[in-house]
This record gives sequence, C-alpha cells and structure tokens, in this order.
Amino acid sequence: MACGFFRTVPSLFSFLFFLLHLLICPLFVIELLQTEVNYLGQLHHPNLVKLIGFCSDGDNRLLVYEYMPKGSLENHLFRRGPQPLSWAVRLKVAIGAAKGLSFLHDAESQVIYRDVKASNILLDSEFNAKLSDFGLAKAGPTGDKTHVSTQVMGTHGYAAPEYIATGRLSAKADVYSFGVVLLELLSGRRAFDKTKSDAEQNLVDWAKPCLSDKRKLFRFMDSKLEGQYPKKGAHAVATIALQCIGKDAKLRPRMSEVLAALEQLQDVKAAERLAHAEHGKALMIPVTKSPGARQSPSPCVQPQVDRPLPSSRRSPRVR
Ligand SMILES: Nc1ncnc2c1ncn2[C@@H]1O[C@H](COP(=O)(O)OP(=O)(O)OP(=O)(O)O)[C@@H](O)[C@H]1O
Ligand SMILES: [Mg+2]
Repeated sequence: MACGFFRTVPSLFSFLFFLLHLLICPLFVIELLQTEVNYLGQLHHPNLVKLIGFCSDGDNRLLVYEYMPKGSLENHLFRRGPQPLSWAVRLKVAIGAAKGLSFLHDAESQVIYRDVKASNILLDSEFNAKLSDFGLAKAGPTGDKTHVSTQVMGTHGYAAPEYIATGRLSAKADVYSFGVVLLELLSGRRAFDKTKSDAEQNLVDWAKPCLSDKRKLFRFMDSKLEGQYPKKGAHAVATIALQCIGKDAKLRPRMSEVLAALEQLQDVKAAERLAHAEHGKALMIPVTKSPGARQSPSPCVQPQVDRPLPSSRRSPRVR
C-alpha cells in the first residue's frame, strides 16, 4: 500500500477530514485521481482545497481533503435548504475562486483547471472559496504555443465553445467557465438546466441579451436576493461576465484582470467612485469587445439559441 501525506495535520480539531473516494476505481477514475494527487500535492494556495493525504492499494484509492463545512457553491445557489447567499457573499466567493484560478494561470508552469463549475467551488465556514477536483487539470502551453491540444473534457454548459469545437485548450477556456459561474451567481440559475424550455436551457445563450441592458439585467437577477444588491455593482459584474464569455478566446480578459476588476467592487472607496461613474464603466476591463459580447436586441425573456447543445449533461466527452 502506497500512502502519502502532504501536510502535517496540526490537531484533530483544526481539520475535519473529508473522505471522498474509497472506491474500487475503474482505470479512468484512477487516472483522474492520480492527476488530482499530482497537482494538489504540489500546489498550495489559500483558494485551493488542501489535499491532506492519500492511500493507494491496488485499485483502491483513498484521498483525504480538508473539510469544507459549507459544502459547494452549487448547494447554496440551487438547492433548497441553505439560506440564500447575500450579494456580499456572492462577491466574496467570486473573488476567492478568481484568486485560485489566477494563481494557477500565473504559476511558473501554468495550470489550466478545466473544470470550473459551481459544484467544484467549495466553501469554508466563512465562505472563503476554494477550488476542488483537479482530476481534469492540465499543464498549459509552453514557449510560443498558444494552446495545448487535448481530448475535450469538462461539464456541459461551462465548457468554452472553441475548446469543444477544436480540442484546443488555453487558460481562456477557464476564463469562459468562470464567466458562466458569474452568471450563476447573478441569476441563481444553473449553467445548463434540462428542466427549462429549449430556449432557456443554456444559461449563456439566455443571459447574453440581458447582460448589457440594465432593465433586462434586473429581470435576470436571482429573485432570492430580493433586490438586495447594488444595481451598479450587479451591472459591473454582468459586464465582467460578458467579457469572460466572449466568443473570441483571445479577447477574453486574463483571470488576473478579472480578479482585479472584482476586487474593485469590494473596495469601499472604489465602490463610491463607481456610484458616481456612469454605467459602471470604471469596472470595464480594457480589452476590445468580442463579437460575442455585443448587445443583442432580443429581450431577456425571448433569447436566441444559435445551436442547441447535446441534450445529455454527461456525455462521454463533455460531462
Ligand atoms: N473537501 C470537501 N469538504 C466538504 N464537502 C466536499 C468536499 N469535497 C467534496 N465535497 C462535497 O461533495 C460533493 C461531490 O463532489 P464531487 O467532486 O464528487 O462531485 P461534483 O463536483 O458534484 O460533480 P463532479 O463529479 O462532476 O465533479 C461536492 O459538491 C461537495 O458538496
Ligand atoms: Mg467535483
């Protein structure tokens, strides 16, 4: 039996262990877990979940993570039970996840996370966000290369269109998925929801016409917020999300730029300046607007769906 511990556990009380996988693993799952161990064993950051240790015995794997008492962002946004997240907490979660992604993208050897989604963003007791699930993580391109070519993997509704179409992966695919998470935080709706009508199933398609229009944005916002959010702040986040989900990957902002823009919203003085700035322009990330970021004339309630995506949430390639 091979075992490893990446961190000394300070005391029984400082960590509650979360035992995630004790399985007779099929080969594919073993590979994912191996990738997870490789990355989380080496990467340490306050916004990445801590892998405390692992055991490997034949086909059995046991991975021990720090316990994240508030569970996943998905639970809080979409499940009945927990108190709805306030605007301030949503912003805090977005900033935490953006910090984790910026760290990965700006590391000396870039890491592309490839699985940004609400269920992989875990929350500690103070709603600090940490990225979990590094099974799909991939080393970024090196030298002059702009992308790595790889089998398309990810989750339906979150995966970037150019990556699904070509298998060409760059950090901008994570930026796209992060933009989808921002839309989920704003709207309280899932990235892909089979229970909705065809036109409303894909959140990106449904959201795009609403994001740059303040009145439509109001209808798009999560009703669970009960209107308790700064209008200009919401508009600024919508603007950032729109840039992240732009069709042209090259024109999407870098995660560090997204992070800086979100952090401005938390800064009280900057927020005051924003209150005096017209249309929240102070938070526009200075990149050229992509074609995908153009305002659509169609109303929020009647979105245009260019091409329906495969109906299965978990196809073999894009889960
Ligand atoms: N360290 C942890 N502490 C507390 N809860 C956790 C931890 N890791 C995972 N979970 C919980 O377990 C759930 C399942 O995680 P898991 O990664 O297996 O599936 P998922 O993210 O929902 O879907 P997928 O299989 O597509 O990744 C998470 O959404 C979260 O609620
Ligand atoms: Mg997961």
